[in-house]
Amino acid sequence: GRTAALIPAAGSGTRLGLGPKAFVEVAGKSLLVRSVAALAPLVDEVLVALPEGSSLPEGLPARAILGGETRQDSVRRLLQATSADVVLVHDAARPFLPAHVVHALLEAIPETGAATVALPVADTLVRGEAGRWGGLVPRESLWAVQTPQGFRRELLLRAHAAARAEGFAATDDAGLVARLGLPVTLVPGDARLFKVTTPGDLALAQALARVWDA
Ligand code: CTP
Ligand code: MG
Repeated sequence: GRTAALIPAAGSGTRLGLGPKAFVEVAGKSLLVRSVAALAPLVDEVLVALPEGSSLPEGLPARAILGGETRQDSVRRLLQATSADVVLVHDAARPFLPAHVVHALLEAIPETGAATVALPVADTLVRGEAGRWGGLVPRESLWAVQTPQGFRRELLLRAHAAARAEGFAATDDAGLVARLGLPVTLVPGDARLFKVTTPGDLALAQALARVWDA
């Protein structure tokens, strides 16, 4: 079957504060260009959801559609714009995507039809209560969810339709599948897959780009 990469890139980048985030550059290349470049060689097509009034940089091997109000809306639109059997949903805001992670994800999808890259939590976790230590949260079984996330397209369409009908919102797509009571496979991710969200993350990305691009 065919595989499509779906890249939600229509956010406004409020927390970073440098305009639409997908177009912010790290060492001369935008987050969007980096994400597309990582996925394009590994899939049959790449679709990107963009903010209104923007367009893809010339020559990028991808097709653009108009994004939605929320990330969830943008992904739903992307899903409707492809007929691929398998979709990989990946945030444009995660520019450092190693190929081996994509391969591991693709291998995991057939088992349940839904899989996400995630990182076992390494830090000690504690609940904060009014600025004070409110009690430990055992981290043994905790994973931090990343992207890409891979699905049989039919399954993710169903999950989006159900979420929409119930007014359920999630910050990712695997969460919508899990909400239906369906299994989602966890695939070990990579620290370099962190999401560029704040100015501090951008500084980290600039440092990492020097190694990544070398
Ligand atoms: N996204 C999208 N459509 C939206 C909102 C977000 O396609 N309406 C995308 C973003 O472009 C990003 C990914 O979803 O690639 C993760 O979102 P986030 O990191 O929150 O990015 P922004 O929404 O742009 O940032 P902020 O929340 O700080 O405004
Ligand atoms: Mg956002």
